[in-house]
Amino acid sequence: MKIYIFDNSEALFERLSSFYIKEIKSNPSLKLGLATGGTPVPLYAKLVADHKLNGTSYQNVKTFNLDEYIGINENHEQSYRTFMNSNLFNHIDIKMSNTNIPRGNTKDNYEEIRIYNKILEENVIDIQLLGIGTNGHIGFNEPDSQFDSKTRIVSLSKETRYSNERFFKSIDEVPTHAITMGIGSIMNAKKIILVATGNNKASIIKKMIEENITKNVPASILQTHDDVVIYLDKEAASLLS
Ligand code: F6R
Repeated sequence: MKIYIFDNSEALFERLSSFYIKEIKSNPSLKLGLATGGTPVPLYAKLVADHKLNGTSYQNVKTFNLDEYIGINENHEQSYRTFMNSNLFNHIDIKMSNTNIPRGNTKDNYEEIRIYNKILEENVIDIQLLGIGTNGHIGFNEPDSQFDSKTRIVSLSKETRYSNERFFKSIDEVPTHAITMGIGSIMNAKKIILVATGNNKASIIKKMIEENITKNVPASILQTHDDVVIYLDKEAASLLS
């Protein structure tokens, strides 16, 4: 694991966005694994600003998102499809048909799982972006997930639902289930970038990096991947030895 620690999140996202822009320019057909949540918002804002200023093109880029809530409509303001469209896809020249997000509102979830797994078997992700839950989840692979898991329906833990309550009107509106890319598929990516900012991530970051690999901390499996880079601000890194 390579670990980069930045004085503040502005410096972190400046470096991270420069990395992405360089990669997209050198491989216009890049396959990007993307994440939602609060953490990557400044990255997407910088990619949009660069696209508007410098015209970096996403015409042939393909994207694969980690997860989607079950039971809310694609057009719901808190669906991850809406999040990706409004934070990134609507503002760059990507073809919508090249953007893949599992759908959480189809009639047949099992068919959707089969389709998403097939997409992931046919496409090797070049760079998978991850955030991390305060309980160590990656994607929505909550503690106890199998390390070789594939796309599936999961129940969201109480901790995850309460962390995401901030995006909804009340806890009752936070979905109880999601469809998520599995840990096995995440680990197939050629390169993995995990980003964590803020004090509330410090304790789980320490566990992920410095403690034993355990299913209680799903992100700890990243210790075994050949090419993982962890981007931290100094708050998230504050408990590292
Ligand atoms: C999002 C995702 C989650 C988040 C994690 C951290 O697609 O899969 O694993 O990365 O819950 O969320 P934030 O960034 O809101 O702290």
